[in-house]
Amino acid sequence: MSNAQPHMMGKDKKVILRELVKLHQPDCYIEIGAHRLKTTLMLAALMPVEASLLAIDLYELAPREELPPEEPPIGLAEAEAIMAGAGQARKRVLKANSRDLTPSDLPELHAARRPFVFIDGGHSAETSIADFRLITGSIHPEATAIVVVDDADMEGTVAARGEALAWAKGKGGVSFIAAYMLVLSQNPVQVSDPTQVPDPAEVPAESPVPSPSVSSSDP
Ligand SMILES: C[S@@+](CC[C@H](N)C(=O)[O-])C[C@H]1O[C@@H](n2cnc3c(N)ncnc32)[C@H](O)[C@@H]1O
Repeated sequence: MSNAQPHMMGKDKKVILRELVKLHQPDCYIEIGAHRLKTTLMLAALMPVEASLLAIDLYELAPREELPPEEPPIGLAEAEAIMAGAGQARKRVLKANSRDLTPSDLPELHAARRPFVFIDGGHSAETSIADFRLITGSIHPEATAIVVVDDADMEGTVAARGEALAWAKGKGGVSFIAAYMLVLSQNPVQVSDPTQVPDPAEVPAESPVPSPSVSSSDP
């Protein structure tokens, strides 16, 4: 377990997220802690154009010590301009402290039947647990959902881990921990043919990808 700063998006994390999105073909993608929307747009390029996108962040320009100086925060206007580059028609950015949100703020998530949520915002225990409850409280009961919690090895995020794994197990989904990523699902995820999905981004094909069909217990 590490108490260090959140890990920024390395190639291995990108591979995991990209493979999961290609597998799941979401009808809704939500990222809490979208930062500069790099991951949002990378994944949007792999999703159906009918998918809805929602990128949540504080979007405050004040410097934050958890962010490296070469990746400073952006404001709402810049985030909206970046989001405009996504191919999907239904997309929005939401400037908010995620702890202040309720399920009614996420109507696209409740409407979705194949949502994919990436939780990568505040990494304190309070925020990690609040974000997880917000998301799982917003997912439609009949949806097949994938929820990824980033930096799952950090002290605050670990506080949410037991609840997160219990949620996935109770919902009949699968889960695994890839060192620093907790991947959960509500209902078993069906495997689609990834060779049918265009793959425009530059990620080395030989990078290892864990199987999402392996269950893991809370260490
Ligand atoms: C590690 S960065 C996210 C990196 C991004 N997901 C990516 O893949 O490029 C964490 C982000 O979470 C945001 N954040 C932190 N606390 C938050 C909160 N309570 N509500 C919303 N966003 C928050 C920060 O502003 C920052 O942009």
